[in-house]
Amino acid sequence: GEVHQHEFIVQEKSVKRLCKAHNIVTVNGMFPGPTLEVNDGDTLVVRVVNRVRYNVTIHWHGVRQMRTGWADGPEFITQCPIRPGGAYTYRFTIQGQVGTLWWHAHSSWLRATVYGALIIHPKKGSSYPFSLPKREVPILLGEWWDTNPIDVVNAATRTGAAPNISDAFTINGQPGDLYKCSSKETTVIPVTAGETNLFRFINSGLNTELFVSIAGHTMTVVGADASYTKPFKTSVLMLGPGQTTDVLVNTDQPPARYYIAARAYSSAQGLPFDNTTTTAIVQYKNTCCSGQPGSQPILPTLPAFNDTNSATAFGAGIKSPAPVKIPSPVNENLFFTIGLGLLECPSGRRCGGPNNTIFAASMNNFSFVLPSTVSLLQAHQLRVSNVFSADFPAAPPVQFDYTGANISRALWQPIKSTKVYKLKYGSVVQIVLQGTNIVAAENHPIHLHGYDFYIMATGFGNFNSATDTAKFNLVDPPLRNTVGVPVNGWAVIRFVADNPGVWLMHCHLDVHITWGLAMAFLVEDGFGELETLEAPPPDLPEC
Ligand code: C2O
Repeated sequence: GEVHQHEFIVQEKSVKRLCKAHNIVTVNGMFPGPTLEVNDGDTLVVRVVNRVRYNVTIHWHGVRQMRTGWADGPEFITQCPIRPGGAYTYRFTIQGQVGTLWWHAHSSWLRATVYGALIIHPKKGSSYPFSLPKREVPILLGEWWDTNPIDVVNAATRTGAAPNISDAFTINGQPGDLYKCSSKETTVIPVTAGETNLFRFINSGLNTELFVSIAGHTMTVVGADASYTKPFKTSVLMLGPGQTTDVLVNTDQPPARYYIAARAYSSAQGLPFDNTTTTAIVQYKNTCCSGQPGSQPILPTLPAFNDTNSATAFGAGIKSPAPVKIPSPVNENLFFTIGLGLLECPSGRRCGGPNNTIFAASMNNFSFVLPSTVSLLQAHQLRVSNVFSADFPAAPPVQFDYTGANISRALWQPIKSTKVYKLKYGSVVQIVLQGTNIVAAENHPIHLHGYDFYIMATGFGNFNSATDTAKFNLVDPPLRNTVGVPVNGWAVIRFVADNPGVWLMHCHLDVHITWGLAMAFLVEDGFGELETLEAPPPDLPEC
């Protein structure tokens, strides 16, 4: 493959949205950041230079990083952050992935403004399993705060409260017509009648799952998370943060201007959420602008914010295009609870969580704490002790009614720790991800670094190993890197641990990772040359 060299200068820039300007962190002064386009088999070499006052790392969301864990990017997991004034070069090869991925900062809440698309075309000489679209458009859905997002999360962390919700959603960085001071800059996507377009949707929002629809047009889903899917038609998509969905859109409607609109799917009852709608305009040739027929864009109908049926049905409709070879037999049968929790307020302080508590979140009742002196991957390779312990449990400490209403107070308080679960190279891993109703039940988009996994099944209520295994899709389960675990429900994923390194698994709602909804897998080296992690690059940042 080809080698693509890029330089990412992380720098501040004043940006005006919703009538207000403030400095945001960007890559190369662009918001969203630059789109990277490669072919499967190509190598990316990206030199990241940190010119801001924050620590920075960049994560290549969904890239498998076979044997190149040093380039994965989550801070204190695979590298120490790039300090202000520092630089680090990420080097990795795309191996057997085609479709839409993205990159984002993986330090505090920087990814609110530091993100961009990563488009992987088929290997040179091969083509899509559908006819070549006339136009390909990355569509990044984002979330905007009127103030510095780092200040938002830091303020919440100081008091233990929930951070402020966003002030707007955005499409390719712009809130769009329905917000104040935003109509002039609304994102416009020009199209021509009678053509097929490939729209590459990415939910790069921080904390919100989003419904998306295009007025008047049906979408044919052909890919998700850089894997092809069995094509199916739909009028609405639902993407959790981290997820991507590729759709074909035929411009088969009367020439006019049509809105693409996105707004929240909010599964947690009673919790506040951003109730605004972002729009972009799909504009047929010769239909612009005011005064001409069809100049007023048409709004699509979106599901209600709490329409869990639509949200779950969309996820469940995604399948692999052809029967797959399911990894089996399972060597590691894991059961992880995922959910919120509350910690006690230290005496003498006032805390911002419900009834003077501190918000927390956990897996199997452990709330993940990042190390600070060395990354987990370095600690593993250099055998530095007392950085992590390898005793993350295979199952929760006690069995209980996870989705019940009256969960005992004792289970509300997770334990803060830095635990990993060790996996032998090549083992077949199955994880039941069980949502809980501690504090609040919510849909959780769970993302695994370094792997794609099959989603065997999803369901509501408590997972029942006697009856729910019958629901597994053993024919054409989808291959993804982020799974929406339904509110008060469960998802089962399966993968082969064929990529040595330390790999974070976490909820992609940043507010939940802030509260500790994460754990990490340590996948040991195999014995072959291709089964062993490469040596760290010489410029790997020091802590
Ligand atoms: Cu896209 Cu660890 O994240």
